[in-house]
Amino acid sequence: MTDAIRLTQLAKRAGCAAKQPPGYLLSLLGSLPAITDPNVLVGNAMADDAAVYKLSEDLALVLTTDFFTPIVDRPYDFGAIAAANALSDVYAMGGAPLTALSIVGFPDAVLPPEVLGDILRGAADKAAEAGVAIVGGHTIKSDEPIFGLAVVGKVSPDKVLSNNGARPGDVLILTKPLGLGIITTAAKNNEDKHGAIAEAIRVMTTLNRSAAEEIGRVETHALTDVTGFGLLGHLRNVVAASNVSARVFADAAPVLPAAREYVNAGIAPGGTHANHRFLADWVTYAAGVSKEEQLILCDAQTSGGLLAAVAAERADALLSALRTRGMSEAAAIGRIESTAPNRIYVERSWSV
Ligand code: CO
Ligand code: CO
Repeated sequence: MTDAIRLTQLAKRAGCAAKQPPGYLLSLLGSLPAITDPNVLVGNAMADDAAVYKLSEDLALVLTTDFFTPIVDRPYDFGAIAAANALSDVYAMGGAPLTALSIVGFPDAVLPPEVLGDILRGAADKAAEAGVAIVGGHTIKSDEPIFGLAVVGKVSPDKVLSNNGARPGDVLILTKPLGLGIITTAAKNNEDKHGAIAEAIRVMTTLNRSAAEEIGRVETHALTDVTGFGLLGHLRNVVAASNVSARVFADAAPVLPAAREYVNAGIAPGGTHANHRFLADWVTYAAGVSKEEQLILCDAQTSGGLLAAVAAERADALLSALRTRGMSEAAAIGRIESTAPNRIYVERSWSV
């Protein structure tokens, strides 16, 4: 019934590409009062996925919120993607989600209430798949639809996986393919001639839960999820927090095939270009890595995969476990190094 409405046409910017660019908040956070509560195990200092608050020696809360304007046209899919994306930040800290609240902005003058009902149902179904009930929320009138969740999870304080633990020698493993921002932008602009949005929706609605379970079984030193800042933007947060460098191999990164074609035709979200500009100070691209390939590595993802820095000797076992659990495109995309200064080096293919 509500499928005739194209939600993306109501959004100026879509999904995590609507995020403020990296660097924008960093400069503002410095002027806020310092966090002095000793129970704050992870605060805002390392640009991590979620905050972690210690309740006792063996229990901590994981706290996060994520919301955005429509990334896809169908209200149900928008709700499911927003829920999977918000839950992901709990998984990205090594945690398990417990419960969630919805955050809603809705233009009730231009959309019927059934649209909001479908968004909420998509989110509730996805949260239920994660074993989580959405127990409340807050709704305001707004010109563009906005939806997301605030999620509370739990983690054992000694099992927290933050941005700051990566060690030289670790292998970088990515669990979902890149190109989601490019494909959703093509669809929004009626340029998705291969209908790749269906596959992108399948990827974006896939929970990072089983990926996180497998990553939690091996020696993982740092973990994040790849969302609005792109693969290299989130890797930059790991590199900065861990005081290391990283080497990424462009040919090893899994990419949705249509995204390559579309970016070569000049399609990419504004957020992806902003990431690429911001990262110019952090990334050295080898000659021969084209501007289009660079944009894919910087592409603003919504509900992207997990990026883990794992002990090298466990990387193959983790990859086969991820593939056994349906993550057929999970791949080793690079490694952590001690090369000074702390930077990301992008090369063509794996080298010793
Ligand atoms: Co995140
Ligand atoms: Co997030």
